[in-house]
Amino acid sequence: MRCTGSILTRFLDRIGAHQPDTYMALAADTLDRRICVAPMLDYTDRDCRYFLRLLSPSALLYTEMITAPAIVRGDRRKLLGFDPAEHPVALQLGGSDPRELAEAARIGEEFGYDEINLNCGCPSDRVQSGRFGACLMAEPELVAECVAAMRDSVRIPVTVKCRIAIEPLPQGYSDDYALLKRFVEIVAAAGCEVFVVHARRAVLKGLSPKENREIPPLRYDLVRQLRAEFPKLKLVLNGGLRSLEQVAEELPHFDGVMIGREAYNNPYFLAQLHQRFIDPHWPLPSREAVLEQLVPYVRARIEEGQSLRTILRHVQGLYAGLPNARAWRRFLSEQAARGTTNPQVLLDSLRIVRAA
Ligand SMILES: Cc1cc2nc3c(=O)[nH]c(=O)nc-3n(C[C@H](O)[C@H](O)[C@H](O)COP(=O)(O)O)c2cc1C
Repeated sequence: MRCTGSILTRFLDRIGAHQPDTYMALAADTLDRRICVAPMLDYTDRDCRYFLRLLSPSALLYTEMITAPAIVRGDRRKLLGFDPAEHPVALQLGGSDPRELAEAARIGEEFGYDEINLNCGCPSDRVQSGRFGACLMAEPELVAECVAAMRDSVRIPVTVKCRIAIEPLPQGYSDDYALLKRFVEIVAAAGCEVFVVHARRAVLKGLSPKENREIPPLRYDLVRQLRAEFPKLKLVLNGGLRSLEQVAEELPHFDGVMIGREAYNNPYFLAQLHQRFIDPHWPLPSREAVLEQLVPYVRARIEEGQSLRTILRHVQGLYAGLPNARAWRRFLSEQAARGTTNPQVLLDSLRIVRAA
């Protein structure tokens, strides 16, 4: 399926983006995207992000996906509040109604987020029934309208996170790359200059979200092909990046890499990434120092009503792979289960890892 000049021009006229190059130049994007932490529902909440920030001074952290209607009609402070130490932090939105997304983006900017990202990669049934997430890859014109509306309402960058394709492929596309290219072409013309690409197909029927992060094969080659065809766009590669060697291999080809599960399961990886790829002179923080720095934050959050258990869940991976990690995790879980509200448990836990 080819995008003929006249169709594209008519479409650009409709959304008010008459000259893509000029239009795109308006949005100066100065965020450092070399290392990003992926949006992860039920994981990358504000407490998780604060903790990850202690391990990585500059990674661009993404919120969990928050739906536009929830922001427009729900408890904004609860949904969007965050600590200034988390900057730079991007708000990921779910939705497909241009007006509602524009309003949610505006509210996000008001709260101080550094970027608004639209989720076009989540394959869950719930998300599909709301007509957003990965199924939007079949409707690039609608995504372009959403992007244009959001760009009109904020000054911060508006970006998109997508897959390489969806299965079944929408009619008229011969292969995954044809869909990816068309999607990017149309959405970029509406002013999106940054795409995060999870380098797997999203299978819309028959796979759970978890299986959809594991079973469809990774196709970094297609994202590289996109890079070659759209040299002016910023592209961030996502999916399956779990080692320094992999990142060393891929980062030179892209504007950044986005790390999801490995950042959560083994957060010290973020510190290693920062030292290796951002600042070789930066001294790696000790895990103990990270926990010590976390204590005052945890105390303040508990005073605000947050449960210790919820916060401690996010630190469980800190000693991943090291001796006594399991005993350390068990100690924290037991303390949390007992209903402890004293963040001192973090410091008490150190004797277990010191004994290793
Ligand atoms: C628990 C979990 C929740 C996720 N939630 C979101 C989400 O809210 N928005 C989104 O765009 N992707 C979400 N993802 C997908 C990740 O952002 C990422 O694309 C995927 O995990 C692949 O990267 P990885 O291999 O580094 O984990 C989620 C992934 C996990 C594991």
